[in-house]
Amino acid sequence: MNLNIALLAGDGIGPEIVEQALRVTKAIAQKFGHELHTKEALVGAVAIDATGNPYPDETHELCMNSDAVLFGAIGHPRFDNDPSAKVRPEQGLLAMRKKLGLFANIRPLITFPSLLDKSPLKTERIEGADFVAIRELTGGLYFGQPQGRSENGDTAYDTCIYTRMEVERILKLAFEFAMKRKKRLTVVDKANVLATSRLWRQISKEMEPQYPEVEVEYMFVDNAAMQLIQWPKRFDVMVTENMFGDILTDEASVIAGSLGMLPSASIGVHTSVFEPIHGSYPQAAGKNIANPCATILSAAMLFEYAYALDKEASLIRKAVEASLEAGAVTEDLTDDKANALSTSAVGDWIVAYIQNC
Ligand SMILES: NC(=O)c1ccc[n+]([C@@H]2O[C@H](COP(=O)([O-])OP(=O)(O)OC[C@H]3O[C@@H](n4cnc5c(N)ncnc54)[C@H](O)[C@@H]3O)[C@@H](O)[C@H]2O)c1
Repeated sequence: MNLNIALLAGDGIGPEIVEQALRVTKAIAQKFGHELHTKEALVGAVAIDATGNPYPDETHELCMNSDAVLFGAIGHPRFDNDPSAKVRPEQGLLAMRKKLGLFANIRPLITFPSLLDKSPLKTERIEGADFVAIRELTGGLYFGQPQGRSENGDTAYDTCIYTRMEVERILKLAFEFAMKRKKRLTVVDKANVLATSRLWRQISKEMEPQYPEVEVEYMFVDNAAMQLIQWPKRFDVMVTENMFGDILTDEASVIAGSLGMLPSASIGVHTSVFEPIHGSYPQAAGKNIANPCATILSAAMLFEYAYALDKEASLIRKAVEASLEAGAVTEDLTDDKANALSTSAVGDWIVAYIQNC
């Protein structure tokens, strides 16, 4: 098969982790006889520096003309520490999501047997946890207008808006995921306070009869935040709005042991984007110490979602699990810092495993 993949490495550790995911993708393409074509484009702070635009038109064009996008991360302390900056790297991410119509971010969360002791949570609570969080990605507070400041600068406002169409399409996806899994769906909202949450709940209840086999529960986000770390095994598919999903999925990362282990797929109207859930981890940029596994596992999702190449995806996952079991890990996953592998050495290990399989 011909694989045309756009590479958007972005900022901070982005280039280092995407490089390793690309090496793994190349090894898989070679093993399974696929022809891989990749092209790179700018996004985030590096794109601002080069063009003034965090998501330049050329980058969008490349994404639109590719089968899939492998994305690193965006963000730079220069902008994080300057609230008055008019153009920001995050605007590039939001523009990409909006222009590609990426309305759903899918974040599978599983525990890895060899990492159970890396989580601050008790092993018996997390062992066997296996759920998918589906986050709405192009609506809610992060996109609602108006947003801004009063003239004297002392008042700020954001607007949370959801339309029926936006809610229906993400809930449909969530019900369909639940049908393919254990048929349990948790709809997370704040319907006791927010009008948008009440619309979500109303629409979900209207849709329930279309999926009679799916057991649906409704949970307030504050309760969900607690249940997630208290009893993560109770969840199968969780769906929620943009900001709640952003926060809950970072919280859920402690179950897996490190933010550096969690991949995601952003899907919607046009080309899908595959990206780790973490940010640009600027403190580690250029040091070759960041964990590349979230990005490598995002490449596995790319094979599965963009091409339905499940065997290729499984081999990547198997290789990552083998590296963990062998202790071939970066410093975030070991107390023995002196023997931690570098980002590229973990890539070497996983590529060699795939080649020797
Ligand atoms: N999708 C994205 O591109 C995205 C997401 C979140 C944050 N950001 C941006 O990233 C920048 C840094 O934000 P932050 O510090 O809040 O979040 P971050 O995810 O970059 O890092 C938070 C912490 O998680 C750990 N971590 C993250 N990735 C890791 C990896 N691959 N290996 C090992 N440990 C890892 C580190 O301990 C790090 O200090 C900001 O500019 C922010 O806006 C971007």
